[in-house]
Amino acid sequence: MKQMKHIKLYFLVALLAISCKTIQETNTTAVKGVAPKAQDLSEIQGGMWIPSLLEGMNEREMQLLGSKMTAKDIYDVNNSSLKDAVVHFNGGCTSEIISPNGLLLTNHHCGYGAIQSHSTVENDYLKDGFWAMNYEEELPNPSMDVTFIKRIDDVTSEVFNGITESMDEASKMKIINQNILKVVKTVQKEDWQDANVKPIYHGNQYLLFVTETFNDLRLVGAPPTSIGKFGADTDNWMWPRHTGDFSMFRIYADANNRPANYSKDNVPYKPNHYLPISLDGVAEGDFTLVFGFPGRTNEYLPAVGVDQIANVLNPARIEIRDNALKIVDSFMRKDADIKIKYASKYASIANYWKKWIGESQGIQKSNAIEKKRELEAEFTKIVNEKDLVGYKSLLSDFEKLYKEIESVSLAREYWMEIAYRNVELLGITFRAYQLEQAYVKGGEPAFNKAKESVLNTYKGIYKNYSAKVDKPVFEKLVTLYVEKSPKEYLPSTMKGVNFTELTNNIYADSKLTTLEGTEKLLSGTPEEVIKKLNEDKAYAFGKEWHTIFYTELEPKFHALNLEIDAVQKEYMKALMEVFPNNRFFPDANSTLRVTYGQVRGYEPRDGIYYETTTYLDGVIEKYVPGDYEFDMPKKLLDLYNAKDYGQYGESGKMPVNFIGTNHTTGGNSGSPAIDAQGNLIGLNFDRVWEGTMSDMNYDPDICRNIMVDIRYVLFIIDKYAGAKNLIDEMTFVHPKK
Ligand code: ARG
Ligand code: GLU
Repeated sequence: MKQMKHIKLYFLVALLAISCKTIQETNTTAVKGVAPKAQDLSEIQGGMWIPSLLEGMNEREMQLLGSKMTAKDIYDVNNSSLKDAVVHFNGGCTSEIISPNGLLLTNHHCGYGAIQSHSTVENDYLKDGFWAMNYEEELPNPSMDVTFIKRIDDVTSEVFNGITESMDEASKMKIINQNILKVVKTVQKEDWQDANVKPIYHGNQYLLFVTETFNDLRLVGAPPTSIGKFGADTDNWMWPRHTGDFSMFRIYADANNRPANYSKDNVPYKPNHYLPISLDGVAEGDFTLVFGFPGRTNEYLPAVGVDQIANVLNPARIEIRDNALKIVDSFMRKDADIKIKYASKYASIANYWKKWIGESQGIQKSNAIEKKRELEAEFTKIVNEKDLVGYKSLLSDFEKLYKEIESVSLAREYWMEIAYRNVELLGITFRAYQLEQAYVKGGEPAFNKAKESVLNTYKGIYKNYSAKVDKPVFEKLVTLYVEKSPKEYLPSTMKGVNFTELTNNIYADSKLTTLEGTEKLLSGTPEEVIKKLNEDKAYAFGKEWHTIFYTELEPKFHALNLEIDAVQKEYMKALMEVFPNNRFFPDANSTLRVTYGQVRGYEPRDGIYYETTTYLDGVIEKYVPGDYEFDMPKKLLDLYNAKDYGQYGESGKMPVNFIGTNHTTGGNSGSPAIDAQGNLIGLNFDRVWEGTMSDMNYDPDICRNIMVDIRYVLFIIDKYAGAKNLIDEMTFVHPKK
């Protein structure tokens, strides 16, 4: 025992000596049972790392945090590794394989659209949950897919081939894009695989991803919303949390285990790796790794960019959504049909609305802008001392460009939030506008092609559309637009009008408020269709706004954004050169990443400490019978009263959620939380409110990701749903015993 400790200490010191950051040695020498304090290791947490590049610094850091894995256990091209079990879920979320039969676990909110699509008022899987008791009962989802990453290669030198410093940005990009095409064309891969190249470090490095995409994906299980979305929007982005945010799917493949379109002859996919599941739970200080597809972060923005998001763009978006949500909510509360139709849309609009509020507050509270300014002052000092001429104007370029783009970004944001997203009728006119444009640019063939696709989109939209709900949203948001958005982009149709009258006219008159009306409008020759469209009141109103968007806002925005991107690319390179000892992870861009940390509580405000774990007792505390956010199923209440937790409980209690210091973002939903040995311990689904600014300013003191304890997932599948068939597929382990 003593010797063990000695060896451990020696190992740690050796690691420290080569680690690129100095960490106080004594603080990290964990005595068994006493976890080191959060601060001590905080400098080696945060960051979303490329799985194929973990050897060296990341591997050492992970081991310091308690991992027993090597970089190769996580990512290996020639042998099966953790990465083979981590799957991009339908482009926006993450999922993981948890059985040898392609059983896939993700969040309830990631499977939400699929669960909703199989639901009706009579057979409401959102409300009651859904469990397939055998393969035959699993439900196909024709428009969904999942993607595996087979291999990641650094192709930077191929992509930069032929680039010289003296070239301007446009010529460089032209060559880069040609080189990327060449790389993708000549890559070694199987016929059924795909390849794509993505930049990291803002275009300073390029990676090739060879992928395999499966689109026969079947719904296997989902708890009722009162478990899967317990706490709904009130609790969203918040800790303490009590949500069983999971759902299950299965991947099907052809007889050769390859991707195939849906067929009843397809068979469950056989993975290269699936995650064993630990039944031993987590304790404060335990190592955690989250593996997934984070969407987007902006960790290296200049202060002026952060300022613009927090103080100009976020407030506008928040106000728009605030208004839209209030109206939609009032309808959903009194009408069950509208509730089903709007549930998914409402949740996704409410989600970022709340995130932006937390983000803006967090930026202010953590002094993120001032901190960036300090870093920039230090940067400028070093650049001047070392006379790094090429970097001297970067910060003033940012200042100038962000000032120029501000009103364009703002007006564009208003258009997107109102004309594209929140007023559905305007979104409908936008698709029709695109159809007219297709004709203008490509004549009849382009028109016919566009028409087929737009009719398909319309079918999806009208299935969940209610003009009754949409009309007051229109009146409110268009009024807001006229009052608040930059005046230079105001359509003439909005000047000096009475919006109540305008709204009444449009919704009484337009054919675009129903699918039948729209289909009639779209029948006939292109000339006839366009004539009819332009006579429609909603279309005519939308068209002018969309035209301004297309002909003024978008071109200006893109031109300025290109310039900003070029400065950002150079600034990224400069930061790495000027601060060679800092840790720089590449901003998230929906590529596969690893983030690691520990199970940790935090102090959100003075005098309050948040524990790491919540229990079923907390669900009972929040329970409000009949409430649409805090109701709970009777069966769950019975299990609680009987304390019938089986092998999943811990000292007579049922753990529900826990938090850690893993640096995650949107897209990490459904990501596996993995222990020191590579076993599944939880399912990532959210972040804490105080830390949502981590997309721009990760702060290990208060940024926490929220995970469902895997034992709660198993308890619901087994004890609540009785789906023993699924439990039997999985492999349980006891790494702590
Ligand atoms: N905030 C989480 C995420 O960004 C969960 C969202 C789903 N839940 C909800 N109540 N809308 O996706
Ligand atoms: N719920 C988020 C998602 O859908 C994850 C939470 C976050 O943004 O960190 O990906």
